[in-house]
Formats: sequence, structure tokens, C-alpha cells
Amino acid sequence: MIELRDVHTYYADSYILQGISLEVKEGSVAALLGRNGMGKTTTIRTIIGFTPPREGIIRFKEKEIQCLKPHKIARMGIGLVPQGRQIFPSLSVYENLTMAARDMERGDAWNINKIYNLFPILKTRTRIKGTLLSGGEQQMLTIGRALMTNPALLLMDEPSEGLAPIIVEEIGHIIGRLKESGISILLVEQNISMALDLADYVYIISKGVIEYESKPDDLIKNEEIVSNYLGVAGNE
Ligand SMILES: Nc1ncnc2c1ncn2[C@@H]1O[C@H](COP(=O)(O)OP(=O)(O)OP(=O)(O)O)[C@@H](O)[C@H]1O
Ligand SMILES: [Mg+2]
Repeated sequence: MIELRDVHTYYADSYILQGISLEVKEGSVAALLGRNGMGKTTTIRTIIGFTPPREGIIRFKEKEIQCLKPHKIARMGIGLVPQGRQIFPSLSVYENLTMAARDMERGDAWNINKIYNLFPILKTRTRIKGTLLSGGEQQMLTIGRALMTNPALLLMDEPSEGLAPIIVEEIGHIIGRLKESGISILLVEQNISMALDLADYVYIISKGVIEYESKPDDLIKNEEIVSNYLGVAGNE
């Protein structure tokens, strides 16, 4: 679905991604794990084109996208669930969702009703403004908004951040359902147990470099890697 090959990304003179290679296979979940400030969000910004790479290749559905503008990349079928949620606070749930709608004519397209089926709580909040939603509801709205663009690939940046454990469980369940529906997912997380439950493959990033990759089961057995690169903070 998507492949990064030797990607190098800078913020002005700051050299952040120092040759990242990873892939998300069609219909799978790949997790990108790592501590704070290691380059997870930068990887997502690089893929979507907000901070394009200075070197390297990004292939989405076999096409090179590293030189395209963000709106073009999004239109090709990449949806973003940004870190910190970033819903429109002054818009209602309904308005947040409908303003993102795209490809409505497609038979299998996401629409408001499908989103409300996935997140029944949002239906009861349809006229409520974004600011008045709980953290969990905001996260659901952010995911719903991304789905309204009918993505083939979803980039999710720490969807569990700042949420109570029971809500994290619910969001994890939803991500599992999205995967079952055929959407490919790059899941950035610091919640290791959630990520390992969902992921088919795991990458660990440290200081802009992929230091480790494996199937989730192999990572669980590798205590040294877990403590070196993820540590207790990630296991809350
Ligand atoms: N706009 C920016 N300009 C300059 N440096 C930045 C910018 N955004 C991030 N950085 C730096 O790039 C590095 C990687 O940041 P990034 O946001 O990708 O980390 P992260 O892994 O997503 O961390 P977190 O878990 O805290 O979200 C950090 O050292 C950060 O300070
Ligand atoms: Mg981040």
C-alpha cells in the first residue's frame, strides 16, 4: 500500500528523519513506536506532504508521491488522524463530519450514517460543538472525519493519547474493525500494548532512525529492545 525508502526529512537545518524505510502492506496495520520526540509525527507529516522529504522515495499504490502537495496526496486516498485530534472546535459533530465528505457517489463510500453506526455516541451528539465533546468523543470524531474522505490508508498519530483506559480499549476495537473492513493503517503509538494487539508488523523509531522491526510477537519476547527504546513509560 505504502512504502518509504531511505527517507530523509529536515525542519530547516534540523535533520530529523535520517533514512527511514518502512512499509504498510495492503489491509494490514503497521505500528510505529518510539519515545517522545523521536520522529513519529515527522514521519506522518512526511508521508502526507506537510514536511516533504529532502531525499528518498515514498510510494503509495505503486506511485511516487514524495513530490506531491498534501491535498493531492490526500485525494489519492490517504486519511490523517492527527495527534492531539484537531477537530474544528466551533463546528458541530455533524459539520465536522460533512465538511470532510468526499467521493459520496461511490457505492462503498463512507457517509454520516455509517460513521454514526461505527460511533453511536456521536449520533447523540450531532448538534454539539466540538469543544463540548469529551476527549474520547473528539477522538472518535477525528477518526470519523478522516473516514469521510474514504481513505485506503489511514495515518493515525497516537489515537490513544490522553484517554482513559476504557476509551483506549474502545478506540482499539474500532481500529480493529477498520482493518477488517480492508483499510490499511499506519498506527503511531506510545501505548505499546494497544499497538501490539492491533499490529501485523512493528517498527521502532529512535532519533529519526528505524532501530528495530519485527512481528509483534518477536518484540514482546525482546525485553532488551522494549526497555531500550520504549521503556516503562510506554506501558502505562
Ligand atoms: N516544526 C518543527 N521545527 C523544528 N523541529 C521540530 C518541529 N517539529 C518537531 N521538531 C523536532 O523534531 C523531532 C521529532 O519530532 P516529532 O514531533 O516527529 O516526534 P514524535 O516522535 O512525534 O514525538 P511525540 O511522541 O512527542 O509526539 C523532535 O526533536 C522535535 O523537537
Ligand atoms: Mg508526535
